[in-house]
Amino acid sequence: MPLPDEFLQELVFRNPITDVVSSYVRVKQRGRTLVGLCPFHGEKTPSFTVYPETSSFYCFGCGAGGDTITFVKKIENLSYIDAVRFLADRAGMKMPKEREDDAVSKLRMRILEANREAARFFHRVLYSPEGREGLEYFYSRGYTDKTIRRFGLGYAPGNSALLNELRKKGYTDEELVLAFLATKSQKNDRLYDIFYRRVIIPIIDIRGSVIAFGGRVLDNSEPKYINTSDTLVFKKANGLFALNFAKASKQSSIILCEGYMDVISLHQAGFTNSVAALGTSFTDGHALLLSRYAKEVILVFDSDSAGQKAAQRAISLLRQTGVRIRVVTIPGGKDPDEFIKRYGPERFKLLIERSANDIEYQLMQLEGRYSLDTSDGRVSYLNEAAILLSKLGSPIERDVYAGRLAEKLSVGKQSILEQIERYRTATRKKQQKRELSQAIKQTEEIVRRVNPMAVSHLRASKAEEGLLGLLILNPDYIKHVSEKLDPDNMVTDFNKALYKKLLERYKNGQMIDLTFLSADYPDDEMSYISRMVQNARESVGTPEQALEYAEIINTEKNMLLLADAENLPDDKIKEMLEIMRSQKK
Ligand code: UTP
Ligand code: MN
Repeated sequence: MPLPDEFLQELVFRNPITDVVSSYVRVKQRGRTLVGLCPFHGEKTPSFTVYPETSSFYCFGCGAGGDTITFVKKIENLSYIDAVRFLADRAGMKMPKEREDDAVSKLRMRILEANREAARFFHRVLYSPEGREGLEYFYSRGYTDKTIRRFGLGYAPGNSALLNELRKKGYTDEELVLAFLATKSQKNDRLYDIFYRRVIIPIIDIRGSVIAFGGRVLDNSEPKYINTSDTLVFKKANGLFALNFAKASKQSSIILCEGYMDVISLHQAGFTNSVAALGTSFTDGHALLLSRYAKEVILVFDSDSAGQKAAQRAISLLRQTGVRIRVVTIPGGKDPDEFIKRYGPERFKLLIERSANDIEYQLMQLEGRYSLDTSDGRVSYLNEAAILLSKLGSPIERDVYAGRLAEKLSVGKQSILEQIERYRTATRKKQQKRELSQAIKQTEEIVRRVNPMAVSHLRASKAEEGLLGLLILNPDYIKHVSEKLDPDNMVTDFNKALYKKLLERYKNGQMIDLTFLSADYPDDEMSYISRMVQNARESVGTPEQALEYAEIINTEKNMLLLADAENLPDDKIKEMLEIMRSQKK
């Protein structure tokens, strides 16, 4: 049963899109719209646009678009109904009664419940004789009972103990497989626990739901960690361990480290704003997420070469989001966990206070690669440094660092600044070119996925898109257009179905705008539709234009039919010619 229009209308009214978007994206007023850096892809020039008048958004860079609900779906990674619930909560509205949840959101709920039961079970076992080994392992790493409780750490005994427990509680085998708690053996088709004789670290999201687990072996066997794969409730590439606690610590900076154990040690030592990515390298999704909760990210990566490479990667992804970045270097090749254990929290605090910002850090790394006693080395170093500084957005920062370099290497500051300027122009051009070609590619891909027929029927689909965009912006045109254009004359399938939907809503006297479409169209399709609306906004938008589109569509349809006509019987062709004549009038 769909949600009532009146409810959706109030929902959107009580959650102005500007407010909703502003809690995730920094936007600036530009005329009647707001623009900012897109939260759905990395970019330097703002192409994410919010249209308060139609409660919708569109990104010219990646083609993402839709209404308020689509925005929440995408940014919070929720199903349609959960996004509606999210907005209802936000505005203090009650969900309509007796609403049947759709199958997927029910399954999602079951997986979350199974995860919670599993976490309870693992934790209980840890403090039972069966979990002795696990508990001792945690003690050996210096974790206190308080820490173990706080993180809900546990032990997975294996031997299908979890499976039996959850089956007893009524979970089906299918649910357990989808939750990534059990897996089918290839040999005999029986189910087994995935986490087997490992200590367990539950991953909890900011709403307090258990969404995944990490399990570590107790000895040196491989793999060291097993992590939950992507499920209906968990996307690895977006997950950050302990973000729930870090957010609650309400600090303006977040410490990012590499491993689970580092995070737990840091929290125990009082650094409750620490997080880590989970069993994957750092992604742009992580960067966007962090930038939403912190003004500053402090990188504390291992000092081995893998750790330093990971830090460079994190820096370049984080820089695109505009957060401030600092990099802590741990002396003596240790990871933060070992360092804290050996030298204590005070010394670690000093490391943070003395840490370099990302530019200083990268200059230091560069310095290590060139010998500054030779002219060659100095020139190469200065060149690389100029490239690095050319990426700084603030002229003051560029000036300060150029000054420092000049002093250090006894070179004129002006010549360094000129070199930086040269690189800036080059990079800016390259960047713009890259973003433009990326934009074209992205929107083409969306069309290919959503309406593949558009690719081979260019003229028809352009007219269809133009027309549909106009009709969504001006539903009162529908009456007139529907008299001239039969839905079956729409050439491409997706547009035909959309046109039918609009006609049906119009006939039933229902409202038409992106909000009411988002119940039926997944994100990609909403993006495609939003682009039509976007193009319509930029066009003349008169009723005459709508009728012109309708005529082009009719003509294109007839051409297609004619191309097929050779295989048609004579009377059919005659009939067609008559229809064409009547449409011309
Ligand atoms: P590390 O090997 O540095 O682990 O991997 P660690 O956290 O220091 O673990 P300890 O101190 O030896 O117990 C860093 C992170 O990489 C992921 C985990 O998220 C780990 O915390 N990882 C590592 C895996 O997912 N699988 C592995 O097999 C190894
Ligand atoms: Mn470690």
